[in-house]
Amino acid sequence: MSGRARQTSVYLAGVSGRRPRVPTDAGKLERRARRAMSRKAFAYVAAGAGTEATVAANRAAFERWRIVPRVLRDVSDRDTSVELFGRRLPSPFLLGPIGVLELAHREADLAVARAAAETGVPMVFSNQASISMERCAEVLGESPRWFQLYWSTSNELVESFVQRAEACGSEAIVVTLDTTILGWRSRDLDLAYLPFLRGKGIAQYTSDPVFRRLIAEEPEGGRKAPTPRPTLRALMTLVQLTRAYPDRFLHALRSGQARAAVQRFIEIYSRPSLTWDDLPFLRERTKLPILLKGILHPDDAARAVDAGMDGVIVSNHGGRQVDGAIPTLDALPGVVAAVDGRLPILLDSGVRGGADVFKALALGARAVLIGRPYAYGLAIAGQAGVREVIDNFAADFNLTLGLAGCRSVEEVGMEALERSA
Ligand SMILES: Cc1cc2nc3c(=O)[nH]c(=O)nc-3n(C[C@H](O)[C@H](O)[C@H](O)COP(=O)(O)O)c2cc1C
Repeated sequence: MSGRARQTSVYLAGVSGRRPRVPTDAGKLERRARRAMSRKAFAYVAAGAGTEATVAANRAAFERWRIVPRVLRDVSDRDTSVELFGRRLPSPFLLGPIGVLELAHREADLAVARAAAETGVPMVFSNQASISMERCAEVLGESPRWFQLYWSTSNELVESFVQRAEACGSEAIVVTLDTTILGWRSRDLDLAYLPFLRGKGIAQYTSDPVFRRLIAEEPEGGRKAPTPRPTLRALMTLVQLTRAYPDRFLHALRSGQARAAVQRFIEIYSRPSLTWDDLPFLRERTKLPILLKGILHPDDAARAVDAGMDGVIVSNHGGRQVDGAIPTLDALPGVVAAVDGRLPILLDSGVRGGADVFKALALGARAVLIGRPYAYGLAIAGQAGVREVIDNFAADFNLTLGLAGCRSVEEVGMEALERSA
């Protein structure tokens, strides 16, 4: 749907007294989602690291750039599509990997996959998804999907995830490098809440044959995770855990597999020792394009090229990892210069509307990833909510493109921007 058609449908619905259920304004979208979610769930999604300075800085960086529109250029036909790894995408954005979507809505990743399939916008499966990649792939049909990998302490598990991603039609692997350790997130710490410990967001693991075998094996030196005291609350948590486990509930409860899965997950999920020397392991095991997510320094971007990677994603994880980290839009020009056209560059963190997409493209990104906004749409109205967020981004970008005087994404360049003092 073109930008004008979307606009018209909203205004026409208004004539019959209907307003959009999912607000187009990013601030209102967040506030309405907050009302639809539990306190803990909203805190987990909204949280940034520490004082959340980087969450704010991401937005401020977008605001520092201004678009300088050009006129009288016949923008009646606008082509918003971009090419990425041999695929033409309808708009220059993807749905970024967001874990634990069950916190937003019970249909979680499945609702997102259905909305993605309706629009042709690629979905990036999270390593911390609430629903396995195979189940999402079923509803995606021919629509594009990528897989995001967290490199665990078991290379065998890494290999298994990648094989499964290939088998269910993923067209790229995104390796997220900024979360080998979880950031210091004040909101979650103060609520003493980490969803994974309740068995949420571990569906890619519990559905994995290697992980299931590892559960049965005792780790070296015995288990490190403490066994909770047998309080009522601990029992309730255990019941929650069993829901995350795909086997029959009672069987999972009796066998202790559910708790074992969570304990194994804690032991295995993060690998802070990861270095550039580990990348060949992955490069040798997949022919799919590999993108490194979490690149902020030009030297790391240049190194990604040398390491035979196929793309980089300039990201600070939505300000959730390093409080005070450089905003992504400020990091982008340095990365663009270092990569020098050798790889496509994507960007996320703080993208909230069509003008942000335009600015990122003008500064050299090929496409952007949408993060929290679609999780908020999901919280408000499930699949339809995600669909609305996608349609709004697409329409907003389509109109901004034309109003700035461009007919296609190829025409968007630095000359369209000015940096404010
Ligand atoms: C609740 C939540 C969960 C996330 N889970 C993942 C994840 O599993 N893997 C990943 O690479 N990034 C994850 N991210 C980061 C996003 O992919 C993306 O980088 C970030 O949301 C962009 O910032 P924005 O939300 O401000 O647009 C998560 C972000 C949020 C808010």
